[in-house]
Amino acid sequence: MPTPIRKAVFPVGGLGTRFLPATKAIPKEMLPVVDKPLIQYAVEEAKAAGIEEFIFVTGRGKQAIEDHFDHSAELEALLSARGQADLGALGMLHLPPGAVAYTRQQDPLGLGHAVWCARHLVGDEPFAVLLADELVLADTPCLAQLVSLYDRVGGCVFALADVPREQTSRYGIVDIARDDGRVIEIKGMVEKPSPAAAPSTVSIIGRYIMQPSVFAELERKEKGVGGEIQLTDALARLLGRMPFHGLRFEGERFDCGSKAGFLKAQIAFALKRPELRDELMAYIGDQAGSRP
Ligand code: G1P
Repeated sequence: MPTPIRKAVFPVGGLGTRFLPATKAIPKEMLPVVDKPLIQYAVEEAKAAGIEEFIFVTGRGKQAIEDHFDHSAELEALLSARGQADLGALGMLHLPPGAVAYTRQQDPLGLGHAVWCARHLVGDEPFAVLLADELVLADTPCLAQLVSLYDRVGGCVFALADVPREQTSRYGIVDIARDDGRVIEIKGMVEKPSPAAAPSTVSIIGRYIMQPSVFAELERKEKGVGGEIQLTDALARLLGRMPFHGLRFEGERFDCGSKAGFLKAQIAFALKRPELRDELMAYIGDQAGSRP
């Protein structure tokens, strides 16, 4: 059995310029889908997969994330006075003292650099990385699906999704050694290739399990596409040293880094809520009927 995955890294330092002006004064990870911030979905997914330590790589202007996972004595006193002391029922989530750490990325040098900033907090053990702007609606949370595969195969395991060829330049794309329809053995990966250069149309979405040897590769600080230190490039250099697998996970994935993806997530998650479903369905039906 491979070493268990106890720690998860959440890179949350990005500026979120695609969602301006909403993200001028609040972190993009705090944008809500229905009534819960994106980052909380990612943290709940990690908890459901057995993660015990939560490491956030933040930056300037991201204090709201720290406050969000902390107690708010004032709010809790008010809710308790109103007879709403059950914070869990309100969807509130606190992370246990000592199980959460925040470090700052300081320079916006790319996703690889953000993960490298967590190296001392992760130490010498395998870990998960979750990107909060990818949201997955699934019966079994996406990271838990990856952990089940990892327990069988070890090494590095990523969540994968098929994308249209014209979108390969938005994602990390894998080169496939073997594909049984669900589990893919990976023999290469390229960050944001052009459609013509892409080795496949299977993209890495923001859920990873990786080995700590990735830190030595990130340490080289080699710049990749966009002049950034890319996580995909560092992982690619570990190929051949350990097994690499990807999983076409079960569930629907929303790229909440794009406005269309974010809006689709609002609708999909709202339709799952019994108190919203009927009203929203009626509204969508009316709109579909009355608009060209
Ligand atoms: C990052 C990764 C990319 C991955 C994507 C998933 O890109 O670098 O390999 O496919 O997340 O969302 P970003 O969205 O940060 O540009």
